[in-house]
Amino acid sequence: SKPYVYITRSLPEDVVNQFRDIFDVHMWDYKEKPVDRETLLQEATKADALITMLSDKVDEELLNECQQVKVIANLAVGYDNINVKKAEEKGITITNTPDVLTETTADLTFSLLMATARRIVEAAEYVKEGQWQNWAPLLLAGNDIHHKTIGIVGMGRIGEAVAKRATGFYMDILYHNRSRKERAEQELGAKYVSFEDLLEQSDYVVCLAPLTKETKGMFDQKAFEKMKSTAIFVNASRGANVDEEALYKALEKGEIKAAGLDVFAQEPISSDHPLLQLENVVALPHIGSSSEETRKNMMELCFENIQRVWNGQEAKTKVNP
Ligand code: GLV
Ligand code: GLV
Repeated sequence: SKPYVYITRSLPEDVVNQFRDIFDVHMWDYKEKPVDRETLLQEATKADALITMLSDKVDEELLNECQQVKVIANLAVGYDNINVKKAEEKGITITNTPDVLTETTADLTFSLLMATARRIVEAAEYVKEGQWQNWAPLLLAGNDIHHKTIGIVGMGRIGEAVAKRATGFYMDILYHNRSRKERAEQELGAKYVSFEDLLEQSDYVVCLAPLTKETKGMFDQKAFEKMKSTAIFVNASRGANVDEEALYKALEKGEIKAAGLDVFAQEPISSDHPLLQLENVVALPHIGSSSEETRKNMMELCFENIQRVWNGQEAKTKVNP
């Protein structure tokens, strides 16, 4: 019989149907809400493979319910939602979706930077709300992007793709990363600096680091204090890399100028969250890789990974070597 694949969200039929010949595909039916924990735990006992979302906690409890699961394909490049060590102990392969989403996520990150700097969201609302009475010299004046300094924290594939975009805006590029990226230095003119120097020198501080024990809360009060009062902070990685209370205070006190946030410690963020009350915050609902083209490619990559593991081959994008 065909392997039982459980998908924790409803995915488009045109994608899923391509794989129904080889897999017995089951998925959560509701478009607007995530799978409930009880259903997920139950499906795990039946499944041979799972396709999970970054919002699903693949923790020890869930992994212990996996009787014959061989592979868990996470529909994201990040996999901080998964207890990889425990999965490994159980012989379960974990895969993610790098590469296919790199350029799309870099597009969104740069859009968010630009939207925040040029106050695009505020300005668009201003027009639609009928507030535009007069042209004025400093009406909704933002800040320049071109010829400024961008500091990228987390120079992985997405970081490099953002740096590439920055070269088109004649920006000076600083980066901080666990390891030096010689190619990015040579090809993009990016300069490796300490975290502290990056914070002190950048006009745009962009976080693209994965969430790990080392990066958790790295943007804290001290970090925001080091930034320029004109600095704009952009986060398109994981919310937990930021101490949100410290960010709120820094924005409110004018220690930094503005923030563009695609991710939050708690998602979805509640609309009465203090950060969302600030005019100088542009907030998006974690849509970094969300283009129609890329999401489809990510879904297909999940299936491809499952297929390969099922055929006894190495997964295409396995999380751990
Ligand atoms: C999205 O945040 C991802 O990790 O792909
Ligand atoms: C993700 O692909 C990254 O390495 O930034």
